[in-house]
Amino acid sequence: MKALSPVFLLLAASLASAQTPSAPGAAPANSAAAVPIPVLQIDAGKVTGDVSPTLYGLMTEEINYSYEGGLYGELIRNRSFLASPGWPAFWDVIGHPTVALDRSQPLNAALNVSLKVDARTASDKTPVGIANRGFWGIPVRPDTTYRASFFARSEDFHGPLTVALVRTDGGKVWASAPVPGISAAWRQYTVELRTDQVPTSKDNVFEIYATTPGTIWFQQVSLFAPTFAGQANGFRPDIMALLAAMHPKFLRFPGGNYLEGNARAERFDWKQTVGAVETRPGHKSPWGYWSTDGLGLLEFLEWCEDLHMQPVLAVFAGYTLNGEHTTPGPELAPDVQSALEEIEYVTGGPDTTWGARRARDGHPAPFPLRYVEVGNEDYNRSSEYDGRFAQFYDAIKAKHPELQVIATAPVTSRTPDVLDEHFYRSQEEMEANAFQYDSYPRTGRPKIFVGEWATRVGAPTPNMAAALGDAAWLTGLERNADVVRMASYAPLFVNVSRLSGSDRSMEWTTDLIGYDALTSYGSPSYYAQVMFSSLLGDEILATGAENIPTRTWQPPAVRGRTRPTEQLRQVFFDATRDRRSGAIYLKVVNESGAALAIHVRISGAPRIAPEGEATVLQAASPQDTNTIEDPRHIVPHRESVHGLSADFTREFPAYSITVLELKTS
Ligand code: AHR
Repeated sequence: MKALSPVFLLLAASLASAQTPSAPGAAPANSAAAVPIPVLQIDAGKVTGDVSPTLYGLMTEEINYSYEGGLYGELIRNRSFLASPGWPAFWDVIGHPTVALDRSQPLNAALNVSLKVDARTASDKTPVGIANRGFWGIPVRPDTTYRASFFARSEDFHGPLTVALVRTDGGKVWASAPVPGISAAWRQYTVELRTDQVPTSKDNVFEIYATTPGTIWFQQVSLFAPTFAGQANGFRPDIMALLAAMHPKFLRFPGGNYLEGNARAERFDWKQTVGAVETRPGHKSPWGYWSTDGLGLLEFLEWCEDLHMQPVLAVFAGYTLNGEHTTPGPELAPDVQSALEEIEYVTGGPDTTWGARRARDGHPAPFPLRYVEVGNEDYNRSSEYDGRFAQFYDAIKAKHPELQVIATAPVTSRTPDVLDEHFYRSQEEMEANAFQYDSYPRTGRPKIFVGEWATRVGAPTPNMAAALGDAAWLTGLERNADVVRMASYAPLFVNVSRLSGSDRSMEWTTDLIGYDALTSYGSPSYYAQVMFSSLLGDEILATGAENIPTRTWQPPAVRGRTRPTEQLRQVFFDATRDRRSGAIYLKVVNESGAALAIHVRISGAPRIAPEGEATVLQAASPQDTNTIEDPRHIVPHRESVHGLSADFTREFPAYSITVLELKTS
């Protein structure tokens, strides 16, 4: 006879157990089964450390159309005509104009090319102009006011221009407005477009056209729908709402590779990203497309302010992705100086050069700053990081002893305050490494910032298998949240409009939050993080476990060498307590395909109240996921739990992540 597998026995045992916890002191429901019941022990009398108050935050950069075509509210793609040299990419013509990129009539030194539209054939019957397709569509909603603006100059042109929101097939005009008096000199024109009871859609274009003859030059053609908090150069409200629900404590910006650039000229050159948006030249991101830098340094800081996050400011450290690097010493001094000036722009009073500049840019109050990160992932490409880091570290500490300096690779010349480590792994690797910080030295070594991490399963956004790997990993970070000061998933965003092909919106698969021109959604991993960050105590409780079921896993070969199989745990957990209320948050991940009855024993605590709450994220299969079409397929639900005590058994569903809130009295 074939032996029953342990998973089957666990399933049988757990099916026999009650859905609600068994009575205090009662024998576990499946204690008689062949497989011993898993036991989670919490010693509430033993606090192993304080949970970092900045544990959960966000990491962001321009990747997968994160800002352009994402968070940044601009709806026009290639608004400055600089995205592709020689032709106005993403623009179409209306009628039969001659259009050309023209360097002879620049708006200014930053936007030094304009779109010349020869509309000499324009008439009422044959309008002539240009149309923009947006970022895979332009969202149109009912009863909405859009703010359109553009810079223009004209020759031999007397009529008004018309701006309009139009269905892509031209069959419907959703809103339109005239813009009269286009002068011979460059001027900015702003107009509101108001829709009435129109259907919600994204298959639309934005048009500007003439119905009388003449020649017109355009630059900085812009369209914003209502933004978060009504800010003029602001953010998409739906995406901001998703972020706010994560309760992020910090924002690491501006990258990632986006900080470094493929080449020095394509780095995040912060001085080029501040000031009036029409004075920002923009630059190519290392992810293959143009950034207008409409979301520049000040907007990053305002984003922090909007969501009550502290900035984690990454400064360019003299190294780019193609390997160009600046030698430590005098050659590096300008980059160090630029970083100091950037810090002054963020924190300086209006009596400082760069603080005054920030005030002129519209934000007189300095921003709080505690963390500065030097570079990005310098461990894998540059051998000179140690020297470069030391030069930045010394200069920053000399001027700002209050700042914590983060290194992106191990260094020996200085002891960084914090070390940024990145992990992109499979579900199994995340689970296998969920204990890696348990043995991290508590003294003499930098604190840890897990500045990028993700279980990379699922595209464009992670599926439930990824969420299980993520949650297992997070139990390890929370258990070690005395030394892991900060953690941020990456990448944060993906525009899911076009997942493959030449003009694709996704360069990197498995991204936390997806969206198109109209709507956005959180992945199962997103919801796991919402649960972990919102249900978190401030002290870490000692834990132990027995009888945790395992599965066999074959780790991938390393440099062609097969590795021995490993036994991978299937249950992960941690416990934190809120000092003030005494509530204990017990997080339990059951990554197995069987519901598991698990025994929880709490010692050293005052009485555990019989009533508690559970927040549960579960799926029928690890492949289950959320999509733009089915955005809430997997979302957490909350339920009351009865019969809790210091000694109870609860059934944890297959493929589930649970946070139990245990009240003490
Ligand atoms: O998150 C995507 C990329 O991964 C980041 O830009 C980089 O820091 C890392 O290699």
